[in-house]
Amino acid sequence: MKNKYIYIIKGVFCILLLTAVKTTTYAQPSAASSKREHACIDNGWRFALGHPYDPAKDYYNGTGGFSYFAKTGYGDGAASPEFDDRGWRKINLPHDWAVEQSFSPKASVSHGSKAIGRNFPDASVGWYRKTFVIPATDLGRHISIAFDGVFRNSIVWVNGHYLGTEPSGYNSFEYDISEYLNYGGNNVIAVRADATMEEGWFYEGAGIYRHVWLNKTDQLHIAANGTFVTTRVNNNIADVTATAAIINSDKKARSFSVTQTIVDSDGKTLATGKATGLTLKPFTSQDVKSVLPVTNPKLWSIETPILHRLVTTVEENGTVTDSYTTRFGIRTIRFDANEGFFLNGKHVKIKGTNNHQDHAGVGAAMPDALQEFRIRTLKGMGCNAYRCSHHPPTPELLDACDKLGMLVIDENRLMGVASTELNDLKRMILRDRNHPSIISWSIGNEEWGIEGNITGARIAATMQAFAKSVDSSRYITAAISGGIGNGISTVIDVLGYNYVASKNTDEQHKKYPNQFSWGTEEGSTVASRGIYEDDMGKQQLVAYDRKQNDFFYSLEQGWKHYAARPYLAGMFIWTGFDYRGEPTPFGWPSVVSYFGMVDACGFPKDDYYYLKSWWTDKTVVHLLPHWNWQGKEGQEIRVCAYSNCDEVELFLNKKSLGKKTMEPNGHLEWQVKYEPGTLEAIGYKKGAKAGNDIVKTTLAPAQIKLQADRAAIKADGKDIAVITVQATDKNAMGVPTAENEAGFSIEGPGKIIGVGNGNQTSLEPDQYVERVNLVSIGNLKEKFVDDLNVKAEIATDYDDSGWQNAFKDARDDEFGRKVKAIVYRAGFIMPDDGATATATFFNKNIGKVQSIYINGKEIGHEIKESARNTEFKLEAALLHPGNNTIAVVATPLLKANIWASVNTDPGLIQLLYPAAPYKRKLFSGHAQVIVQSTGQRGTIVLKATSAGLKESAAQIVAK
Ligand code: GAL
Repeated sequence: MKNKYIYIIKGVFCILLLTAVKTTTYAQPSAASSKREHACIDNGWRFALGHPYDPAKDYYNGTGGFSYFAKTGYGDGAASPEFDDRGWRKINLPHDWAVEQSFSPKASVSHGSKAIGRNFPDASVGWYRKTFVIPATDLGRHISIAFDGVFRNSIVWVNGHYLGTEPSGYNSFEYDISEYLNYGGNNVIAVRADATMEEGWFYEGAGIYRHVWLNKTDQLHIAANGTFVTTRVNNNIADVTATAAIINSDKKARSFSVTQTIVDSDGKTLATGKATGLTLKPFTSQDVKSVLPVTNPKLWSIETPILHRLVTTVEENGTVTDSYTTRFGIRTIRFDANEGFFLNGKHVKIKGTNNHQDHAGVGAAMPDALQEFRIRTLKGMGCNAYRCSHHPPTPELLDACDKLGMLVIDENRLMGVASTELNDLKRMILRDRNHPSIISWSIGNEEWGIEGNITGARIAATMQAFAKSVDSSRYITAAISGGIGNGISTVIDVLGYNYVASKNTDEQHKKYPNQFSWGTEEGSTVASRGIYEDDMGKQQLVAYDRKQNDFFYSLEQGWKHYAARPYLAGMFIWTGFDYRGEPTPFGWPSVVSYFGMVDACGFPKDDYYYLKSWWTDKTVVHLLPHWNWQGKEGQEIRVCAYSNCDEVELFLNKKSLGKKTMEPNGHLEWQVKYEPGTLEAIGYKKGAKAGNDIVKTTLAPAQIKLQADRAAIKADGKDIAVITVQATDKNAMGVPTAENEAGFSIEGPGKIIGVGNGNQTSLEPDQYVERVNLVSIGNLKEKFVDDLNVKAEIATDYDDSGWQNAFKDARDDEFGRKVKAIVYRAGFIMPDDGATATATFFNKNIGKVQSIYINGKEIGHEIKESARNTEFKLEAALLHPGNNTIAVVATPLLKANIWASVNTDPGLIQLLYPAAPYKRKLFSGHAQVIVQSTGQRGTIVLKATSAGLKESAAQIVAK
């Protein structure tokens, strides 16, 4: 089938030949012809903590007479390419330094009480540096560095050139670095992140917690986030509108053509279109638009999340200058003010969850595979929608939602109409607009200062219109906690109710019959997994569904409200996963929230099964509580069944305790006098047995059991397996009350990257990482001598009190004529535990030729200045706690000219403390270990031991 389409670019008519083909297999343009490179540069970074206001602890950045704001390329201290970072810790990204910290009652409760922030200046600034090579052949290309997100207020330099500051901890950002690079040699990126200030009221992490990319293209290329695909489906034909922004960063005009090709998941070309005769002057850009028809399209849906690819190719004189692949889905979305939401014309009740971006063990530094694990976990209870509360997520989360079939509300951080906020909103939409999972842009959440007033109405109306000007294919929402009937609720297209217990949704619907609406937050229940008696001392709350207070509904009340009202498109539970921070209704020592349907590891609380029974078509019978109530014999225990069966009958030790009829969206309850044994619930549909659940009284823990979620992972250094740790009794029954501590060891090509157990009050470490202590060498003193053969002055106890401070005199030629050699002396303080660390002296030459003595013993003999950056492992026996002495005997270093300076820094001593072995207590019988591939193939063996219990191991193949 051939169609002719006419389209207009900036007043020029072009003709597009669009071909819908069924069978051609699409071949990627060959590597040689396609110049784009998109390389993840997560590995091989150096990290050290800096300081928000103490220059000495912040590597003297910004202290030069002319700052990096004064003169380009003047990045100083750790921002300088010359800075010596050999002592810094080696890390790979994504990295969250907050999760590595201990907990403190002085830290921010809302952020999970990790010891960073205002009260912890020593742990609130992080520096990252990476050295990378750019080949000489890259000269002339357009090269940029892209950050998916850094928390927060990041400053980036390349080779000492200041590139910019990004205040947001959630925006993605990219800098053009082409002209700053050293082609054919080493280049240095330096990043300073300052997490002193918070943006949210929940755990946010700290540092480069998302991926970093190095992008290389031709100067004539498809702009970053420059493609936009929208789909319309009519009578088995999808019109795919593909727009690509082409940019010419060259210094001369370029003429080219653009081909847009749609490829299906099997690699078949479905449609293609070409725009020819295009020319761009230097530093101009142009949107090239094609409408491509796809017949009998395979639609993206929650059940069948089929993805297509749009391949956009820029060609100049027969050579491909750029080729870019955009993943998209063909689907339609529609809201109806009376009937709710429709996907591909089919009604879908939104069964959503809100989630923050952290997970047990790893904090905000989430491997991509963990995003998928979390989305799969949520889908398991029938959740079909995810609200990114309250900021733009990492792009890989959206990839997981596209791939697995999860609808998304993508949310802007701060409401406002200054250029900053509108630009943030725009950046989010431009970055994320091709994800088929996204159905709505949220302009904000619970803006208490404005939501119920006229200012809020004006700001929301402007932001809404602005968002639509960037993307008119999504619906705009705002989450509102109060002021319904006023302010934002009078102007927003899709009204988001946060908690309806105190709101009259029917009245609002009557007043605004054309307004779409849904519950952006609902079901604010607080519970500890596997706990069935409140214990205020331990800060544990029962996992029975109950309302928190009169401002909120229980889960069941909330869902019944939404299920009963077709005009409400559905609701988003607060929250899917427990998250760090906001441990409502408690404070310290609770450090994790209680709101989740699953805990911070993803272990289901009972609420999960309530929702699963009404959110899925699978037969569900779930009983609570557990049946280990030793000491409570004869006392009444509240037993509940969550089920979507018509009737449920309860049996204790085979004796029926009665059959009850299930009310839709309800649950069933019995008061049962405790006797140990077996409690069974049998569910009936239309009178026939449809399913059951059994809880048994168990014996004491006898074995520790490990179960990996996947038997094999990719050997790519990134993929993960999530391992469940459980205590079982001698009959292999999981013991629901076990609190044993398990220790872990690992062999093969895998490493543990975090542990958790879902206990909101656990203050155990999330990670056991190696620690670096940088011991600086105190102020140098100096004495001029005749030659390098000095004996007395290098001795530990030599009295140097009469010596002058080093480098007092200018190191000019006259100094060189006068002074033959110099002895420098200084002290350094070794901590008491120094002997448990590996000590390395990273030397920097302060002489043309120099010999180095530590505590009187020579460690380096007549090192020449040309042998730069030498390093020495220091034996433990050489050092002692407290004051130690270093002496350097050197011939003088002299300035090359009057503006130059000489190195006055002798280097530093790195103490590298090895990571302690991983361990974790079980909570309600469970803990979790996250294991990541180290990049090699082979079998990973994770072993668990626990005092008095039989040990066990789990094997995961990395391939
Ligand atoms: C809402 C807010 C959420 C969370 C929740 C806790 O008001 O939007 O971010 O704080 O309360 O109850």
